[in-house]
Amino acid sequence: MSNAQPTDPKELVVALDGPSSSGKSTVGAEAARRLGYRFCDTGLLYRAVAWLALERGVSPDDTAHLVPLAAEVALVADARGRLSHVSVAGRDVTTEVRAAAVDRAVSDYARVAELRAAMVTRQRTLAADGGIIMAGRDIGTVILPDADVKIYLNASAEERARRRAAERQATDEIEAGRILEDLRRRDAIDSSRETAPLRTAADAAVIDTDGCTFEETVAAVLAAIAAGATVGR
Ligand code: DC
Repeated sequence: MSNAQPTDPKELVVALDGPSSSGKSTVGAEAARRLGYRFCDTGLLYRAVAWLALERGVSPDDTAHLVPLAAEVALVADARGRLSHVSVAGRDVTTEVRAAAVDRAVSDYARVAELRAAMVTRQRTLAADGGIIMAGRDIGTVILPDADVKIYLNASAEERARRRAAERQATDEIEAGRILEDLRRRDAIDSSRETAPLRTAADAAVIDTDGCTFEETVAAVLAAIAAGATVGR
């Protein structure tokens, strides 16, 4: 935790990490809304680069062509200041980057050290003014190691796969099985990569959401932020 003494809780910087489909985006956005914070989903940056790379036929090991793609991708704020949209050359591609093809490929792009390096300053700049919940994999460990509050949102692979299947309205067992398999594969890549692997920061509050409703999870995140705000003072 940082030694900063925020005078207003709105100044807090909150790092929210966790594996795929742990609810970071939906829970983080709702917690931010209730606090009047900005919300930033950094996964969108990696997804947009992966989408663009797939469009242009750039493979993860072609770093010379891959890294410049990062400059073409921008997070877009909505009227409430939530950075929950992503654009490429002014075109909103938020829906496209959530496609199954991007789901399958994104971890292979996100593991590239040079690409990650190109994203660091951008993410830190977004958080510089505080009053933000920033969601990702390495926010508390690498991007914002001095965040006022660090939260790690966890859930079993089975529970996360169930949520993803419901989101996708996937009802048949083969599709559900494929979702679970994809999720485990992405977990393995995200956790074992050399640069900024998915890890629980030593000073993070871990929230296990198996069996929790959305509302309960939002409440747990808000409680962790309130506790962190008290510690920071
Ligand atoms: O959170 P998500 O599923 O939208 O993330 C998409 C991919 O991007 C996932 O493979 C992990 C990666 N990612 C990352 O490596 N670091 C981040 N800060 C955010 C996402």
